[in-house]
Amino acid sequence: MFYNPNMVLDRDLGVAFALAYFGPGARRGWDMLAATGARGLRLLAESGAFSSFLFTEAHPDAVEVVRANARTFPGAIVRAADARDVPPEAPFDYVDLDPYGSPIEFVSTGIRALRPGGVLAVTATDLMVLAGVQPGACERRYGSHPVRGRLGPEGGLRILLAYLARVGREEGRTVHPLLAYVRGHHVRSYLEVVPLSATSPPDPVGMVDPGAWAGPFLGDRGPYGPMWLGPLFDAALAPRLATPPHAADPRATEEFLARIRAESDVDRPFYHEANELAAALGVPFPPSREALSLALVTRGFRFARTHMRPEGFRTDAPRTVVEEIVRSLRETAGSRPSRSDR
Ligand SMILES: C[S@@+](CC[C@H](N)C(=O)[O-])C[C@H]1O[C@@H](n2cnc3c(N)ncnc32)[C@H](O)[C@@H]1O
Repeated sequence: MFYNPNMVLDRDLGVAFALAYFGPGARRGWDMLAATGARGLRLLAESGAFSSFLFTEAHPDAVEVVRANARTFPGAIVRAADARDVPPEAPFDYVDLDPYGSPIEFVSTGIRALRPGGVLAVTATDLMVLAGVQPGACERRYGSHPVRGRLGPEGGLRILLAYLARVGREEGRTVHPLLAYVRGHHVRSYLEVVPLSATSPPDPVGMVDPGAWAGPFLGDRGPYGPMWLGPLFDAALAPRLATPPHAADPRATEEFLARIRAESDVDRPFYHEANELAAALGVPFPPSREALSLALVTRGFRFARTHMRPEGFRTDAPRTVVEEIVRSLRETAGSRPSRSDR
């Protein structure tokens, strides 16, 4: 009833995160919205990073389920409680916020319950709102104008991060994304939360004006945002993310993590797709991934596929350069001798 098997890979990723970021230790975790407790119990049992984990849950039936599930896990504490209250066990090293829909009503409590430098993991499943299908709701809920269409989900992730940064500041903290991704119908981010100080740099949050934007084409319904325009991945952490030994779906987890490891090297906002570029430029056939990658790298730019879309790629080249490459590759393809020339 409360167990969502679609989130299996997501929980594998959670364990991968804890293994890579924390390593073995006696940390304290809190699963704010436990449901079955699957997320926190796997972290407790498989990462070796925690000596105790608190599970709170409001639904009486679910509380019984978590209690039964947690019985054989040393260090698990289960309580029927409202997750909007900071528990007496705070501060925690890690807080997991995994709601149905939007996380907003729980964010400030999650932040307040962390020790300085602790990690907040946040899921949002209201992607219809964040990704621009319901722009009015996005403005009301997150205070941002969303990107619509194929780049909407990444826009949604960046809107959520901007929101989390804003609430962090209200609570006297700053957030630093360690791992933030889009998968299916949800977004998820792991953030280091540190006290705000006089030397804290400003958050890389801003509006995107499509007219002045040198990155991938976002549409013409802007300005978009405010959104997070900084990195989605911690450059030191991403290469260390590895498939956990007890992953429920090791192949899918490895595929996803391999994509993230590569992508973290070209951590720029938004991605291109060859077929979109070709269509926009009136080029009949999109260039191959290999040709694009080679052309960009030869010109001194970086190229990486994104986990967000099979054919999507990120680059640090401005859009004008990417477009020029797509046009020039058409010319190269067009200059190949055709059958009648031979
Ligand atoms: C999406 S489920 C959590 C899934 C879980 N993390 C997992 O991985 O299986 C959200 C849960 O939050 C519980 N919940 C909703 N509002 C709550 C509140 N204010 N305090 C505590 N639990 C709450 C719901 O009963 C539901 O079980």
